[in-house]
Amino acid sequence: MNIQNKVVLGIASFVGIMLLVGWIVINEPARMEVFTQQWEGRSVERGAELYLNNCYSCHAEDGLGLSGYAPALKNPMLFLEENPGKVANDELRALRAERDRLVRAVDTYQADIAERVELIARRDAAAEGSEERQRLQLQLDDLDTRIRLFDPATPQKIDELLPRIAEQEAKVEELRAQGWELNREPRLKELSWTGGLEAYLRSTLIAGRPTSGQLWNGNIMQAWGQEAGGPLRPDEIENLVAYLINYREEAIKLTPNDVRQQFKIAGEGTVDADKEVLGAGVDVMVLDLSGGDVAAGQQKYTALGCAACHSAAGGAAYNFAPTAGTYTRVENIRLRLDQFSGYTAEQYLAESILYPSRYIVPGGEAVQMPANYADQMDLQDLKDVIAYISTYR
Ligand code: HEC
Ligand code: HEC
Repeated sequence: MNIQNKVVLGIASFVGIMLLVGWIVINEPARMEVFTQQWEGRSVERGAELYLNNCYSCHAEDGLGLSGYAPALKNPMLFLEENPGKVANDELRALRAERDRLVRAVDTYQADIAERVELIARRDAAAEGSEERQRLQLQLDDLDTRIRLFDPATPQKIDELLPRIAEQEAKVEELRAQGWELNREPRLKELSWTGGLEAYLRSTLIAGRPTSGQLWNGNIMQAWGQEAGGPLRPDEIENLVAYLINYREEAIKLTPNDVRQQFKIAGEGTVDADKEVLGAGVDVMVLDLSGGDVAAGQQKYTALGCAACHSAAGGAAYNFAPTAGTYTRVENIRLRLDQFSGYTAEQYLAESILYPSRYIVPGGEAVQMPANYADQMDLQDLKDVIAYISTYR
């Protein structure tokens, strides 16, 4: 071979090698991807085996849990970041609160108009230049300012809100029928866990829930990781985590009605998780407050913390609003105030409980009584508590 041919051959093989290297570099990520997928697949498979050997007796073979024994793990409330039932219900509450605000604005406006007529008559009746006349004129000026500030589009805004509320109500009802609890966050949010689902599963599996027996009829989620004294090696824990994470695609398509058992929260015993609370914004004037049960009301009065502030052996913590004599006080004093004309004693009580800051008892301050009872009580609670307070005449 002459020198020229050798050079050509050398260049050709160099180019060939470079092409080969390039081809490998380009294809390596894809090859790794396939490899990773195979590895993950095997991990899920091994996890499935471990699950069948160790977990199915409590969480069920299909992962949907066993009523009363253990929660579903193939569970939308575990995988979703928001509970659609709560999101829709919160929207509904906001719409209702807006409607109530607008309705109150119209009521106030109409009352102002009526009062204006009366004030003008009284001013004109007062002697020219008298102090009384000046005082009435000042009141009238204040009133006129308020009347001017009223937005004339308010009634129309109410009309526009009503169909939106009806639509949202239907949506909430549909979600409720699918089993979504309207006042509950998804699992991780409910626990304020910010570390992500994988880490949550891993730490639960390793350490178990040694204190879960009481909530679950003596059924205990034991520690499974060797580092916590359990039977499984770290790689086996990882396989189980991979297996559970793999539920995601199916889980997020389920509704709570599809699973046999939701999670339970410790200390929630007395609070029924799917109770339909009244919600801020509910209008006490349209509620039927009759039919409360005194004995149940007495229990709730204690359970909700009312008694702690309103009654005490040596006088209430807030002695300007003691439980004793409440109903009489309401009838003889509160209902005579202009603000409560047209109220029954029951309506006054309902408003005091749900919206304590709308009227402040003399001697009290707006911040003392919790303002979130509407988010804790359903209509029956309210009726019962009112029936109980009504015995204090
Ligand atoms: C003897 C019954 C039992 C067995 C067996 C069991 N668990 Fe549990 N598991 C429970 C109970 C009960 C809870 C609920 C604990 C609580 O409420 O704190 C639970 C909770 C969990 C949770 C947490 C759910 C959550 O959101 O809080 C995971 C994850 C879990 N188990 C996975 C497993 C896996 C994986 C296995 C098999 C290795 C397994 N469990 C075996 C009874 C069991
Ligand atoms: C942390 C203390 C506290 C708790 C808990 C509490 N209240 Fe009150 N409550 C007050 C104070 C202070 C006032 C007076 C200030 C005001 O009007 O907001 C008041 C006012 C009232 C009034 C009006 C009384 C009147 O004389 O007009 C009623 C009725 C009432 N509360 C009922 C309840 C009920 C029912 C509960 C439980 C569901 C409850 N309260 C829980 C502190 C409390």
